[in-house]
Amino acid sequence: MTMKIDYVAAPGGALRGRARVPGDKSISHRSVMLGSIAEGVTRVSGFLEAEDALATLGAFRQMGVTVEGPVDGRMTIHGAGMHGLKAPSEPLNLGNSGTSMRLLCGLLSGQPFDSVLTGDASLSRRPMRRVTEPLRRMGATIETTAEGTAPIRIFGKQSLHGIDYRLPVASAQVKSALLLAGLYAQGETSVEEPAPTRDHTERMLAGFGYPLRREGSRVTLQGGGKLTATELDVPTDISSAAFFLVGASIAPDSELVLEHVGINPTRTGVIDILRLMGAKIEVLDSRMVGGEPVADLKVVSRPLRGIQIPEKLVPLAIDEFPVLFVAAACAEGETVLTGAAELRVKESDRIQVMADGLGALGIDACPTPDGMIVRGGRIGSGRVASHGDHRIAMAFAIAALRASGPIEIDDCANVNTSFPGFTELARRLGLNVEVVRHA
Ligand code: S3P
Repeated sequence: MTMKIDYVAAPGGALRGRARVPGDKSISHRSVMLGSIAEGVTRVSGFLEAEDALATLGAFRQMGVTVEGPVDGRMTIHGAGMHGLKAPSEPLNLGNSGTSMRLLCGLLSGQPFDSVLTGDASLSRRPMRRVTEPLRRMGATIETTAEGTAPIRIFGKQSLHGIDYRLPVASAQVKSALLLAGLYAQGETSVEEPAPTRDHTERMLAGFGYPLRREGSRVTLQGGGKLTATELDVPTDISSAAFFLVGASIAPDSELVLEHVGINPTRTGVIDILRLMGAKIEVLDSRMVGGEPVADLKVVSRPLRGIQIPEKLVPLAIDEFPVLFVAAACAEGETVLTGAAELRVKESDRIQVMADGLGALGIDACPTPDGMIVRGGRIGSGRVASHGDHRIAMAFAIAALRASGPIEIDDCANVNTSFPGFTELARRLGLNVEVVRHA
């Protein structure tokens, strides 16, 4: 019997103190993938021990990779080399994790064995043609359901060839899947993106000594090389820090320092958007850690104002919109988001689910096909459905800081996919959120 978890967040409070949120999810996935196919021993610290990254780790263990840990974010990966993965004897179940599934589609297309990728109900609804279609063009044999969803069956022993591909949607997952397949392809694989997306794969490949070329919006690599093991220190996840950046901005008398946050410029849209809304966020002690920029972020509460969110910031804040809608609900005036249709195919339809939840709390939130119009107002009390989406659950917990009464949030177990210890940390900083378990 699986345990159902709800949150009850009490109204009011301020966020104060210093905190270190867990490790970056995107970088943690990539550390396992690249460490596993490298030659030599890769030591990782700061690894995110949450369900999504652990799903990737489990998949590589099923393919014969030896990994010690993780313990307190530290693990040692004994790289199997480019051609050392073994056929998994069972389907690889990737749970809720879109990143695991899409990146693995690319990596596994280049292997000599067959594999099957499955996931939970949410992941089994998410669009996979965006990766399978270009991978087929590279020579992969790969099957999905008729709807283009998981389970995905990948037939090995194909010889891949490089392609020159322009992404139809700005997606780091698709870009990364093609680059990982490109490692195993003959000739060059080039991916051009319509707008910048997170570049952790490119940075980490370079860190493992794999040559790649970046020219404007295009990245190119030549197949057939090898990766050399390295040391990786994973920064903390700005997508997790975002909940507290918004929380401390909207809750009067807040002052918070978030330590060692990854501030890769392809991820900092949330800071830019909050600053445009009037937030006070300082970037302190910027430094480079293992090829990724890191800083401490200091945030002090400030009244926010509604804005038209610049479309160019959308891919740079793609995971932060649930909590940015909460910021918009607390702002003076109207916030308009456009150019963000991708939000409808995340762990849930984040446009509809957030509009419904904000509506249930008395906020005027009008969903549009590619965004939302939110009029700032008074957040009431009530029950909202997270639809099993971790970031929706955490966003509504943060909303309680400005609510007139308690907010009950349904179905929050998946917070463990990205942010283990969220409620404990939130309570320590001043948000009164309780966990209610039912059988
Ligand atoms: C991710 C890329 C983003 C993001 C996801 C993680 C990654 O997805 O939403 O949470 O690690 O590459 P898209 O690239 O599909 O937008």
